[in-house]
Order: sequence, then C-alpha cells, then structure tokens
Amino acid sequence: MNPNKILYLGAEAEIKTSVYLGLSAVEKRRIRKSYRIPEIDHMLISARTKEESKLIMEARIQGVAVPIIYDVDVENGIITMEYIDGHRIKDIIHRLTEKERKRICEKIGDGIARLHNNDIIHGDITTSNMILVDDTIYFIDFGLGCKDSEIEAKGVDLHVLMEAFSSTHSLYPQCFDYVLDGYKKRFQGDADVICKKIEEIVRRGRYRT
Ligand SMILES: Nc1ncnc2c1ncn2[C@@H]1O[C@H](COP(=O)(O)OP(=O)(O)O)[C@@H](O)[C@H]1O
Ligand SMILES: [Mg+2]
Repeated sequence: MNPNKILYLGAEAEIKTSVYLGLSAVEKRRIRKSYRIPEIDHMLISARTKEESKLIMEARIQGVAVPIIYDVDVENGIITMEYIDGHRIKDIIHRLTEKERKRICEKIGDGIARLHNNDIIHGDITTSNMILVDDTIYFIDFGLGCKDSEIEAKGVDLHVLMEAFSSTHSLYPQCFDYVLDGYKKRFQGDADVICKKIEEIVRRGRYRT
C-alpha cells in the first residue's frame, strides 16, 4: 500500500494511509476549525481523539471487530490504527443475495448488541462506518461515540442505522429487521424495550414541527 495517500477528506477528519512498525496503517487526523477559538478547538480535538481511541479499544476488548489502535497523539489529534482492507457495507450491500444480506445484517446487529451490552454508544452507525473483510464486520469511526447506559442512547444509536437503511438503501427495507433479529439474540437487556424506544423516536420525528 502506498503510504501517505489521502483515503478520505471530510469536514471533521482526514484519513491518510501510513505504515506503523512495518504494518499497513491509517492515520485519522482531526481537522482544526478556524472559526473556533484556538484553545477551545485544541481542547475539543484532544478530547474527541481520546474518547474515540478509548471507545475503539473498549469495543475490541468486548469482542467487536474494530481496527487495532497503534498510537494516539492527543496533542495533534491523530489516531494511528490498523488499515482495514475490505469493502464498506455501503458499497457492497447491493451486490449481495438476499440470503447473504440477511446474514450480514444479523451480524451487524450482533456487533451493535455487543457494544450496547457494555454501554458503548457508537454514535454514527451507518453503512459507511462498517467494513466487511471476509466474513467479519469491522466497526470504524467512533468519533461521535460515548458511554451511556440509557435506553434512549441505545435507541437513538439504532435509529441512525434505520434511517441509513431507509434513505441510502431504500431498496432493502428488510435489512433493519434483520439487524434487529441479530441484536435481539445478543443483547443482554430487554431488547423489546429498545425496539419500543426506536418506535417512539420515529413518532417523535414524525410530529416534529
Ligand atoms: N482503519 C481504517 N481502515 C480502512 N479505512 C478506513 C479506516 N478508518 C477510516 N477509513 C476510511 O476513511 C473513511 C472516513 O473515516 P471515518 O473514521 O469514518 O471519518 P469521519 O469521522 O470523518 O466519518 C471511512 O469511511 C473509511 O472509508
Ligand atoms: Mg465516518
């Protein structure tokens, strides 16, 4: 892999390929915002970098596939991590058969439940933030994540994916049901309460003025 190639340039972060002790890596560097007071900007970038790397490590400890963290540079807002050489779920979901889609979506639900069993809220569960390698789904981008034990936080976390499926992948309305099937099997709390919460969030959204 060609090091120092920009893989992605977003509003919040730049992802660059890199090499760490001979291993293929990526560097996620948070972008400074000129409209923010520099001290506040530095504080926010440091805090998010710390939080994201902690959540990724914790997810890994709980058996969720995530990139290995190689290094964290809090001062400069850079996380160096394992390069996940696969395909974003977003890019391959349409190529799968219905049977494969069901299996992959159930696995996604299993991963989310493992996170939620440990009160890890991903914060941005979309099909761009999951990479498939062979038969493993890697969760990336915990940049909006946090720890939260509330039902509300878990419901909102799943609702983001529900929206992603209904907007980006509107051809596959069953996908989110498959995700919930996988989630229910793995979740250690009362999954029905979470499902009710999702329905409530949907209602709230509908009546929002
Ligand atoms: N560890 C990684 N391995 C491979 N690709 C990655 C990795 N981390 C990020 N990427 C790529 O960079 C994109 C943006 O990274 P992400 O962490 O999602 O940033 P943002 O917070 O700006 O969305 C991802 O959608 C993915 O394509
Ligand atoms: Mg992302």
